[in-house]
Amino acid sequence: MSLFNLPPIWMAPMAGEAASAALVAAVSAGGGVGQLGAAYLAPARIGEVAAEIRARTDRPFGINLFWPQPWMPDAAGLDAYLQRLAAWHAELGLPPPTRPERFEEDFEAQLEATIAARPAVISFAMGDPGPARVAALKAQGFKVVGTATQVAEGRLLQASGVDAVVAQGYEAGGHRGGFLGSPEGALIGTLALVPQLVDALDVPVLAAGGIADARGVAAAQALGASAVTVGTAFLLVDECPLSPAYREALVAAGDADSTLTRAFSGRFARGVANRVTHELEGAELPAFPQPNAASRPLRQAAAKAGRADFISLWAGQALPVNRRPGSAAQLVAALSRGWRA
Ligand SMILES: Cc1cc2nc3c(=O)[nH]c(=O)nc-3n(C[C@H](O)[C@H](O)[C@H](O)COP(=O)(O)O)c2cc1C
Repeated sequence: MSLFNLPPIWMAPMAGEAASAALVAAVSAGGGVGQLGAAYLAPARIGEVAAEIRARTDRPFGINLFWPQPWMPDAAGLDAYLQRLAAWHAELGLPPPTRPERFEEDFEAQLEATIAARPAVISFAMGDPGPARVAALKAQGFKVVGTATQVAEGRLLQASGVDAVVAQGYEAGGHRGGFLGSPEGALIGTLALVPQLVDALDVPVLAAGGIADARGVAAAQALGASAVTVGTAFLLVDECPLSPAYREALVAAGDADSTLTRAFSGRFARGVANRVTHELEGAELPAFPQPNAASRPLRQAAAKAGRADFISLWAGQALPVNRRPGSAAQLVAALSRGWRA
């Protein structure tokens, strides 16, 4: 029996450029489980995108949010960060960077919009929703999924009652989804993490990180995963609306170009190294989400101007494994060949 009676190939939620109705719908319609990374979407937009997904497919999909992070406003740190951005703004012909008016969306309103959108699955990264929240969501008919980068996080999520846990290995593209200790602490590879979580937990485990083709899917299943969740490989499918500069940088990157960086957001995330990650390596930065909001104008302008050196090029270590995935449905089909029914 497959997990939640859903297909075993899930597209990982990806906030940012890949948070597209066309992509999510194409994955679900193509025989996988599409997931919308809604962390950066305004609450009203979550409802709109979900409606667009529904207009394209009646297949189930998921919505993912970042559990809110406690953070200390750090005006001095932020100003120092803005100073680092200023030269790059000038290079792109942008006005000097200023303190953002707002750093993040209202989480409670996002969650309300997510509930109203009625996805099959609601997943969280970067936190444990706790038993009351999980019970309330389950009572409303949602499957609730948490993200763990170490066994202790998986145990906490299980104790909160989640239906399944994503085991996010070190290879994974994008932000580290863990929440215990420092994000720099739990850097456990998928091959090591999945069986440890499978052994420690009674709830099903989804494998994430470094899975890009049928071989990776077969490996994850052999490790005991109940499904896989694939991010990076879906960035290069036809339906993913990636800016050309981002896409070209992913196509050009080598296996050794992957890095974990805090440079764009203040929180560890994996992507292709570029000027920003090199020049801010080791820099003291204010906590997430302050740099994330402050660097947004630079990143958006760089994407428009075709300047990959200033874009957060989130992608995982397995990027070079599968760089010609074709359509979303073709990638789902190719990945599915690695899963034994
Ligand atoms: C561009 C990008 C954005 C991501 N955004 C999110 C997100 O919003 N929420 C989340 O839980 N994980 C996010 N992730 C991590 C994925 O959920 C997943 O763990 C990862 O992509 C799996 O590894 P892979 O990239 O090697 O397939 C993101 C990953 C990428 C590449």
